[in-house]
Amino acid sequence: MRTIKIFDTTLRDGEQSPGCSMSIEEKLRVARQLVKLKADIIEAGFPAASEGDFQAVRRIAEEIQGPTIAALCRATEKDIELAAEALWPAIERNAGRIHTFLATSDIHLRHKLKKTRAEVLDMAAAAVRRARKFTGDVEFSAEDATRSDPEFLARVVETVIRAGATTVNIPDTVGYAITTEYGELIKHLFARVPNIGEATISVHCHDDLGLAVSNSLAGVLSGAGQVECTINGIGERAGNAALEEVVMAIRTRGPYFEARTDIATQEIMAASKLVRGITGMHVQANKAVVGHNAFAHESGIHQDGFLKEKSTYEIMTPESVGAGATKLVLGKHSGRHGIQVRLKELGYDLKDEQLDKVFAAFKELADKKEEVFDEDLEAIVAETIYRIPAVYKLLHLHTSGGTDSPHSAYLELAVGRERLRTQDTGDGPVDAAYKAIKSLTGSGAQLINYEVKAITPGTDAQGEVVAVLRENKLQVSGHSYHTNIIEGSVLAYVDALNKLESIKKGRQNGKQIS
Ligand code: KIV
Ligand code: ZN
Repeated sequence: MRTIKIFDTTLRDGEQSPGCSMSIEEKLRVARQLVKLKADIIEAGFPAASEGDFQAVRRIAEEIQGPTIAALCRATEKDIELAAEALWPAIERNAGRIHTFLATSDIHLRHKLKKTRAEVLDMAAAAVRRARKFTGDVEFSAEDATRSDPEFLARVVETVIRAGATTVNIPDTVGYAITTEYGELIKHLFARVPNIGEATISVHCHDDLGLAVSNSLAGVLSGAGQVECTINGIGERAGNAALEEVVMAIRTRGPYFEARTDIATQEIMAASKLVRGITGMHVQANKAVVGHNAFAHESGIHQDGFLKEKSTYEIMTPESVGAGATKLVLGKHSGRHGIQVRLKELGYDLKDEQLDKVFAAFKELADKKEEVFDEDLEAIVAETIYRIPAVYKLLHLHTSGGTDSPHSAYLELAVGRERLRTQDTGDGPVDAAYKAIKSLTGSGAQLINYEVKAITPGTDAQGEVVAVLRENKLQVSGHSYHTNIIEGSVLAYVDALNKLESIKKGRQNGKQIS
């Protein structure tokens, strides 16, 4: 088994994502997590890009021990010297890598560099020799390699290795390559470059066509020994190959790749969350490995299979990436088996006919609601099995107020057999009505979320109101649909209070039965 080196460039290419700039302190926090993740190389920045980048590389080179610290630089003396200076504390302890790059495609040569191929060959060799004066660990990247003439690229690779490059990177800078083609390009280099065995070949793929991870893996299959990637796949334009996907593909399909990495995979989720938090770049729910749904099953058939034998629908465990446990989401696709298991976990061991009733009520609710929570399920048990009647019922509501007069709400509630009424004022009619409910019910539950959204168009729109209440460790959401959003708000609050009451009583009943 070969061990593939993981070169993390979240702090350099990742930071080049629009809106993802990080402060030095934030970069240090990410770097510390990358140490826990056991990344082999951390690319800390591009010192010539700004004073801030220089300082960030310097602080990381000073403080971060374990991984090799790399700094990017163009193939010019000044850039290389700045990179060496910023990296110096790491270079002194033999853990500093200078990463110099130069474009090799004719498009870049003609339009950007205005250089001939011969000039580029000389510049590349000179840059590597210059970098080698500072450190024995020098990486050369042939920018836009995948749109370069493969024969010229082979000459560049041979030349830089002869000049002293210890790693040679073949970037798909603009995410243009197709997977088989990229794999062939790496194979071509292994076949055509006589001294290729003297360096590690690295892959660095962008995701413009959504192929960054598969291209990187094709590179590994063709002999690459290092993969450059970022946490959550952040990076220039559509991003880089996602570290978590590359690493988990190699781990899950180790025998296929005949390879492994040293990554501590159980630190992946923490790294993903940290990078999300710092950059504000969200991860889509269905994102592989670290998305919210990556280990969630909703379909009844999948839940049933998973409950019988995990491997039926799970190729890697959430625990292996630090993502907690598998979630069996209760929704309209869930089946009886999934509901039964969840109820058991909640402490309800129902008889078959009781389960039928609960399942029917669950299906009815799941048709209206995207996800059915444990508390919803408990409320269903309370209502259908223990027949606990709703404690609170709205009898009458009147609100008044305007731009120049205070808002007040007059409210009548049935509480059990009693009929209670009160009036309150507030910051708007909903606030006034909610205060009135609180004082009538004496409930200590806290309103932790309140949302109103129109579900039909027009001024007579049907509004959906959600009111989430928390009491001790119990959290419930009340719902209502109404054209009058104030009345709808009161009904949602009352619905949530009723759920809290029925769950508490249902639990007592459940305990009596078992
Ligand atoms: O995408 C790219 O070509 C790069 C190089 C500088 C390595 O990021
Ligand atoms: Zn890149």
